[in-house]
Amino acid sequence: MASAGPDSESSAATGSLIASLNEDLELEFRSITQYVQHVACVTGPEYTSTVEELKVHLSQELNHSTVLAEQIAFLGGTPSTAASAAPPFVDSRSALQADLDLEVAQLERYRARVEEANGAGLPDVAEALRPLLTQTQEHVRDLQAALGK
Ligand SMILES: [Fe+2]
Ligand SMILES: [Fe+2]
Repeated sequence: MASAGPDSESSAATGSLIASLNEDLELEFRSITQYVQHVACVTGPEYTSTVEELKVHLSQELNHSTVLAEQIAFLGGTPSTAASAAPPFVDSRSALQADLDLEVAQLERYRARVEEANGAGLPDVAEALRPLLTQTQEHVRDLQAALGK
C-alpha cells in the first residue's frame, strides 16, 4: 500500500513520537516567550549585538514551532498550545544562560527526535526536523559566544 503517513504496525512508535514532538513544541513556545522578554530586558553595551541575535532566534523559533505543529498534524496528532514556563528574569547574564541551557536541551531533544523518526520509518519527518537541529546548533554557538564560553 502506498501511504504518506504511518501504518498501523508503527502506531505505538508514532504515538510516542507525537507526544515527544508536542513536548518539543511546548519548549519552542517557552523559547518564544523567553526571547520576547530577553529582547526587551537584556541590556548593557556588551550585549548590544547579542540582542540583535536574539531577535533572529525569535523569528526562527516561530518557524520551528510551525514545522513541529505541521509534523504533529501530519502524524495524526493535535499540536499542543501549552507553553513550558520560562524562569523569572534576574539579570542579563543569567537570562542569556537560561537561553543557552534551553537551546542545549533542545539540541539534544532534536538529535533524539531525528533518530526516533528514522527508527519509526518516517524519514520525511526526520528530514523536516533537520533544519531545526542545525539552527538550534547555531543558537547554542551564538549564546556561548555572547557568554564568552
Ligand atoms: Fe527552536
Ligand atoms: Fe533556538
